[in-house]
Amino acid sequence: MNTAMSMPSPDGKTWFERAINRFLSPSGRRVFSGPKAQVIPSGIPDPELYRVPEDFNRLYQPWWNPANKSLLRPEVTANTLLNPQKLYMLRQLARSSLAVPGDIFEAGAGSGGSTRVILDVLQAAGSTKRIWSLDTFEGYQKIDPSKDGNHLQIAGCRCASFEDVTRLLATPNHQVTLIPGLIPGTLSQVKSEVISFAHIDVNLHEPTLAATEFVLQRLSPWGIVVFDDYAWPATYGARTAIDQACSARGLEVTVVPHTTQAFLINSAPMPSHGL
Ligand SMILES: C[S@@+](CC[C@H](N)C(=O)[O-])C[C@H]1O[C@@H](n2cnc3c(N)ncnc32)[C@H](O)[C@@H]1O
Repeated sequence: MNTAMSMPSPDGKTWFERAINRFLSPSGRRVFSGPKAQVIPSGIPDPELYRVPEDFNRLYQPWWNPANKSLLRPEVTANTLLNPQKLYMLRQLARSSLAVPGDIFEAGAGSGGSTRVILDVLQAAGSTKRIWSLDTFEGYQKIDPSKDGNHLQIAGCRCASFEDVTRLLATPNHQVTLIPGLIPGTLSQVKSEVISFAHIDVNLHEPTLAATEFVLQRLSPWGIVVFDDYAWPATYGARTAIDQACSARGLEVTVVPHTTQAFLINSAPMPSHGL
């Protein structure tokens, strides 16, 4: 194929992709061009481990099942930066922790979509667990370039207002407490001594470290923590924070393949091993 034919047009699609899609459109199927290149910040000690995911032709993706349509309803998808597979992982792991004693904690409510998914899990199960969810509700206010690089602009965030998020998460029993302001300063407002499930999604080193420490000090046995920003090269500062807090307790995260997420189950400290 010559270069002009493979060049993307202003809408980002190549001539080849357009032609294939014209051919496929009667069947309702489409192809999409591959992912954009990711910049690996210098300073990451293991750049060779940030790889393009394995390209299977077809995989079972239950989040597209119509039975899961409440997960991907507009109320959620319009208010989250998480893609369908990350929302699915978040929901499944939140469900798995329902029998564990404790409250729910979230750092990084954003526009409230991820919180809404967790709240749906509680409501579907008739659980009265409290959710404490923190954010500046004004985007990224404080970035340390020495830890976080420069990929996030100060205050740059597609975030709904505090009032909109409050409306999205309102329940008759006021199950969700939203705490506006900068982590770590706001953590003292979380009046919870025991946590069963946490979602940490603030992208930056300092608030990730503080929120992870806070959660690990309170996490019930078999409690679960989902870290949204572990495997993305741009949020390497969050990965170093999570590793620091976990390794101090002999805990180890598991990376979720094909997403940026990792999770932790508070079982027992990992034995040291050479695997
Ligand atoms: C990736 S967004 C959260 C996305 C959200 N969970 C969703 O479902 O789309 C990260 C959030 O972290 C918040 N944030 C960053 N630094 C913070 C800090 N120090 N304290 C509180 N919130 C912070 C930002 O305001 C932003 O809303």
